[in-house]
Amino acid sequence: MNVARTAAEWDRVHTVGEGVGRMISAEELIKFRRFVGPGPGQVVIDAGCGKGAFSQQLWRYGCDVTGIDWSAEALRRARRALSGGQKRRLRYLQHDLNTDGPPEVESSSVDLVVCRFSLAHLGDRERFLSQARDWLKPGGIGYVMTFVREKLPPRAAHAGLAEEEIAVLDRGWGSAVRYGLGRAAVVVLRRADLAP
Ligand SMILES: C[S@@+](CC[C@H](N)C(=O)[O-])C[C@H]1O[C@@H](n2cnc3c(N)ncnc32)[C@H](O)[C@@H]1O
Repeated sequence: MNVARTAAEWDRVHTVGEGVGRMISAEELIKFRRFVGPGPGQVVIDAGCGKGAFSQQLWRYGCDVTGIDWSAEALRRARRALSGGQKRRLRYLQHDLNTDGPPEVESSSVDLVVCRFSLAHLGDRERFLSQARDWLKPGGIGYVMTFVREKLPPRAAHAGLAEEEIAVLDRGWGSAVRYGLGRAAVVVLRRADLAP
């Protein structure tokens, strides 16, 4: 099941709250540092960044961050939270991730693509993950965090991926590590290194 929303619907979701900003737990960050290893100078895309809470966290690690979201309202709030000093390494782009691009992001230019609680909302997940691999440098990492549908009440099932969908996220990637975080699963995907 997938509840397709338009950009305007996402604007409304972000305006009324609806709990779209997923809490960042200490456990998530401990595992993120261990399995992803963010660091200064890394070029990062936060795909479906919402109001930018995780983009801000990535900025605190010293990364050069571009948050992408379809919702102008989410980005308005994300930009409002930016301090002047952050703007050199943290920017936001409005873009529909169900389409190609955005043109600002070049192939093989990115160290890490974060997709936190967004993948279940995209129309064609395989297409997006293929796009993410194209953005990544060889050996670059995709961080996918998603609710597990089987762990959600029926009314919220659209916000998660089914176990069988999570199991195939690693198709086309060089390697993958999966772990659980409450009702969510994290899959850390590594783009194959093209070097022999
Ligand atoms: C559940 S929220 C997650 C927000 C944030 N990543 C977090 O962890 O709190 C899903 C986000 O995906 C965005 N989104 C949904 N469809 C999108 C699309 N086609 N292109 C870009 N962003 C999209 C929504 O606007 C929303 O901000």
